[in-house]
Amino acid sequence: MNHKRILVTAALPYANGPLHLGHIAGAYLPSDLYVRYQRLKGRDVVFICGSDGHGVPIMLKARAEGVSPHSIVDRYHEVMHRAFQGLGISFDYYGKTTSHTHYETSQDFFRVLARKGKFIRKTNEQLFDPEAGIFLADRFVRGTCPICGNLDAYGDQCEKCGTALSPDELINPRSAITDAAPVKKETTHWYLPMGKLQPKLEAWIGEKSHWKKNVLGQVGSWLQTGLADRAMTRDLSWGIPVPTDATEGIDVDGKVLYVWFDAPIGYISATKEWAEEQGDPDLWRTYWMDAETKLVHFIGKDNIVFHCLIFPAMLAEHGEFVLPDNVPANEFLNLEGQKLSTSRGWAVWLHEYLEAFPPDLLRYALAGIFPETKDSDFSWKDFQTRVNSELADVLGNFVNRALTFTKNFYGGHVPPLINPSEADLGVLEELATLPAKIGTCYEEFRFRDAVFETINLARLGNKYFADTTPWHLRKTDEQAAGNVIHVALQICATLSVLMEPVLPDAAAKLREMLNLKGIRSSLPKGLTGTKGWDDAARPLLEVGTPVQPPAILFNKIEAAAIQTQLDILHQRAAAQHPVAPEMPPEAPFAPLKETITYDDFAKLDLRMGTITSAERVPKADKLLCLQIDLGFEKRQILSGIAQQYAPEEVVGKRVVVVANLAPRKMRGFESQGMVLMAEDRESTLTMIGSEGENGAPVL
Ligand code: 2FM
Ligand code: ZN
Repeated sequence: MNHKRILVTAALPYANGPLHLGHIAGAYLPSDLYVRYQRLKGRDVVFICGSDGHGVPIMLKARAEGVSPHSIVDRYHEVMHRAFQGLGISFDYYGKTTSHTHYETSQDFFRVLARKGKFIRKTNEQLFDPEAGIFLADRFVRGTCPICGNLDAYGDQCEKCGTALSPDELINPRSAITDAAPVKKETTHWYLPMGKLQPKLEAWIGEKSHWKKNVLGQVGSWLQTGLADRAMTRDLSWGIPVPTDATEGIDVDGKVLYVWFDAPIGYISATKEWAEEQGDPDLWRTYWMDAETKLVHFIGKDNIVFHCLIFPAMLAEHGEFVLPDNVPANEFLNLEGQKLSTSRGWAVWLHEYLEAFPPDLLRYALAGIFPETKDSDFSWKDFQTRVNSELADVLGNFVNRALTFTKNFYGGHVPPLINPSEADLGVLEELATLPAKIGTCYEEFRFRDAVFETINLARLGNKYFADTTPWHLRKTDEQAAGNVIHVALQICATLSVLMEPVLPDAAAKLREMLNLKGIRSSLPKGLTGTKGWDDAARPLLEVGTPVQPPAILFNKIEAAAIQTQLDILHQRAAAQHPVAPEMPPEAPFAPLKETITYDDFAKLDLRMGTITSAERVPKADKLLCLQIDLGFEKRQILSGIAQQYAPEEVVGKRVVVVANLAPRKMRGFESQGMVLMAEDRESTLTMIGSEGENGAPVL
């Protein structure tokens, strides 16, 4: 479909800490490149983002600092907004989900779904911290992952194996606030019936063959596992109150909207606030409700399920809104070969980067390594190489040569093109294809390719110079040399447009040097020039235009400046984690648990058993369903070993079973115990066996 307008959103970052390069490479810089390109194309585009102010991450930070969640949100909202501006991320509007408009919009959305009967209400027992007197939702509870055995999984997700969890699935749950063992307490919540909605979502996703493979892969695996109904409300003291007039008289005191219910609605509220600011308060409707809008959500991979399944389900059930046309999620960015980790101090903070280097350099270096199809790695050394060997030596050098020649031999004016050679025409022909070629890269979210093709134009320019040698040519054929300079200046002019999305400051500086006027801005409310992206296919500079002597576009980065950054990184990591250096920081063994008494230990009933059969659990790629002979009885036990062991491999193996563990249901199967495993640093599991007879106690 040909869309009339594009609405671009970038994930609303939690306002609980500053931004690091992982955030930037995930959602914010890709979306900015896309939007700037679309603006240069002359398209009607609105770019929305803002701070996510709710949810447990904010509450935990507030508790850690002993201040109110509100003050945390206000503080980091400012910090993040300033850093985004410093990097030139060109949002049309940057809102926050603590705004009045957002409260109203979210509550209205909830009301509509409730009145249309789109929620199901469930009352069940949930974990409650008896010491803190609160229900333990999501990240307020930690415990052992039932799938991979990670001792420190969160109540909403195990970060080790990636499985989405609910708090009651955790083994040995404990409160993240008081460390108390939670008790169960009854509570009522409003659920989005994702199970029932699955067929509709499947049909919708089925039309999305143009989505990125990494996104479709993750969505496919969620669908294959089977979607579980998801509570859209929480018992928490911080959040948007559940509207009392939508809950059929049920007491909702102390209940708030689930953060993943209100946060994506934040895109809508921010668009409303933007429309207000434009003096046309209803304008947001056109962007959200007219079928000719193309809605694109830029996110990191950890947000895929929310943007590809849950929010679309909310929008569809509401009925008045457009659904996303695409969700080009990126994978993760690593740092110097290791996983980025804010708690381990292994991160480069955007605001600190901006104190050391110009924004364009980071934009360029990151765009070249965006984790578009798989995780990628940022290293300071690579950053230096990209700046010095590509920006300075290729792009800067080419521009410098063209302008120096113009100044020295053509009186600082664009010379005419008369009787061009084949080489001259060949370059102009090549140039004519580039806006469309690079444009396709942007349209298809292949930003690395776009950047590569852009810098390639400067490479082409350098090669053209080397092939035509105007410094020799001018001694024999003044006009032919003038033609080369004419063409080289046209390459510079085209470059100044095509490099604008990724290098906006350098592009502006280059246009200034070229005295190139009338180019449309890639900023929200910049000057509306008459020429844009497509015009860069043709020579943009008039013959005779006075150009300036060259100024340096990119300064090279010295080794010492890179070393300073590496020192900062390592010092910070060492300070956060003093004993870490000689341990592999990515996979330390779990710390020893607290000491227990013999009586505690004696409560465990460990028995020898033999696996008699094993099969895969449908829609759960990590689980095997094992039948185990304990001598005196048979047990069915689910074990998270399917990615390492094939069912036929484990039949006949002798294992140690925790035989008096209360039975639990997992993925619809009852698990009557647990099989003990040793887990090494690489998460490889080994069964613990012995010669003992089936049923023999293990002491
Ligand atoms: O992962 C995060 O940082 C979330 N705050 C993203 C929210 S995106 C949207 F839904 F608002
Ligand atoms: Zn796990």
